[in-house]
Amino acid sequence: MNKLTSIYLTVSIFLLSGLNNTYAENSEFEFSKFVDDNGVISLPKDFRKTMTHLGSWFVPTGDASGFHDVYTRQVDVNAYRKEGKFQDGAIIIKELRASSSADYSTGANVSFSNASIKQWFVMIKDSTNRFPNNKNWGSGWGWALFKTGNHNINVSMDYKNDCLGCHFPAKNNDWVYIEGYPTLTKQ
Ligand code: HEC
Repeated sequence: MNKLTSIYLTVSIFLLSGLNNTYAENSEFEFSKFVDDNGVISLPKDFRKTMTHLGSWFVPTGDASGFHDVYTRQVDVNAYRKEGKFQDGAIIIKELRASSSADYSTGANVSFSNASIKQWFVMIKDSTNRFPNNKNWGSGWGWALFKTGNHNINVSMDYKNDCLGCHFPAKNNDWVYIEGYPTLTKQ
């Protein structure tokens, strides 16, 4: 090895180790880019374009009527298929859309989701109880509700009052209505 080669080698090793450190710090430091240091959750932008559609529910009548379209990140689907559970930092978004119906060549009274969004529900998996003093974190998740008027404010005051009661039937599946998401386990 001549002198020049050894200088090159030393410099590259130095640069590479720097890169490695940055990645390691980032992944350990950054729990979720949708959660700040105090556990404040924000609604991801453009998730319909960037995330995986897990499944949809159709609610025929009542305040929640319409389609409930559920999304998660592709990495969270991959992890679920491997581990059989949601990984730390996994995000689930449920968007409520109003529906319309009409007769089509496929059948009478066919329902489709129209352009009117009602609200968004978000859950973020937290395996280590990071925010014990924040009332929207607990039971293994961060919980949030966003209204269409303001995408930035979680209007849920306390997940125990605002969310948990209704999710009780899904308690044994980590509070998630898993039966609606075959994508997590099958092609
Ligand atoms: C009125 C009952 C009710 C309340 C209140 C409620 N949920 Fe749900 N949630 C459901 C049901 C039922 C489903 C699945 C079926 C559906 O959407 O109709 C669901 C699904 C979800 C999903 C999709 C993942 C899953 O579990 O299937 C998210 C995310 C979610 N809820 C978050 C929340 C959050 C956060 C709150 C509190 C701010 C909340 N929910 C309050 C009943 C409720």
